[in-house]
Amino acid sequence: MSKVLRAPAEFRQACEDARAARQRVGLVPTMGALHRGHLSLIDEARARADFIAVTIFVNPLQFAPGEDLERYPRTFETDLAGCRERGVDLVFAPGPSAMYPTGFQTQVSVHELAKPLEGGFRPSHFDGVTTVVTKLFNLSGRCTAMFGRKDYQQWKILSRMALDLDMPIELVGCPIVRESDGLALSSRNRYLGASERQRALGIVSGLRDAFDAWEDGERDPDTLRSLAEESVHPAFDHVDYVAAADPETLGAPPSSPTRLLISVAAQLGSTRLIDNVVLGEDSRP
Ligand code: PAJ
Repeated sequence: MSKVLRAPAEFRQACEDARAARQRVGLVPTMGALHRGHLSLIDEARARADFIAVTIFVNPLQFAPGEDLERYPRTFETDLAGCRERGVDLVFAPGPSAMYPTGFQTQVSVHELAKPLEGGFRPSHFDGVTTVVTKLFNLSGRCTAMFGRKDYQQWKILSRMALDLDMPIELVGCPIVRESDGLALSSRNRYLGASERQRALGIVSGLRDAFDAWEDGERDPDTLRSLAEESVHPAFDHVDYVAAADPETLGAPPSSPTRLLISVAAQLGSTRLIDNVVLGEDSRP
């Protein structure tokens, strides 16, 4: 039976109690609207830890004015049922004023990794993410924390942050969970109309074309990037980027890489989708 806690101090205490009982704490930070992607993180936490805590908090700091904070899906009862079904021990679901009381004014920033890709289009986004996740890690204390590689850059930034700031947290990057036709699960997919849902597959085709060319021996980053772009561009209303980057620095890749991140962000109407594949590492999207 998952216990629901709203107060940060209670969350901290529950994690301390678990460790005192010699349980390993597994943390799954989310913004709710849980789907099979989130549930896969819970399963991974279960495999690695004894006491599973899921956090559900739609973090206002990581949404810029004009982004979808107000319409971000909130499905708390269904989320809770999903957590209970999977044997989650604790759900931490604070309100905004518990996380950011009057007077709050501190920010945690990771610099270089936050500049490219998403950073070029959502300039304050990652500062909001690193700040809230620092708070969650400070409350949870020593644990193993699960993140999805769907948000590849977020996972890399948070891993760097934990290393740089000596946080006693082991971060695990989990594989992207996809629909049977390949579309990566996302809380934002529910905004898509039927024809947009079909067009969204342009991202998957692009990633697959790059993947297949890599398998055939192509190693030129720009050729692989262009292949992905050719499928994404015609399907989407607006393409923020189709990028080929080094999977570790997220900067320019070498001319013949052994691994290559192909990363896409594109919009259908007002819905923005992101997806990626690491060639030389991931299986076919
Ligand atoms: P949210 O978008 O709710 O995602 C929570 C976690 O689920 C993230 O680690 C994300 O990468 C992972 N996830 C989402 N879709 C996935 C998929 N299809 N397959 C695998 N994992 C998937 O990411 C956030 O929330 C927030 O930025 C947060 C880290 C909670 C900080 O507010």
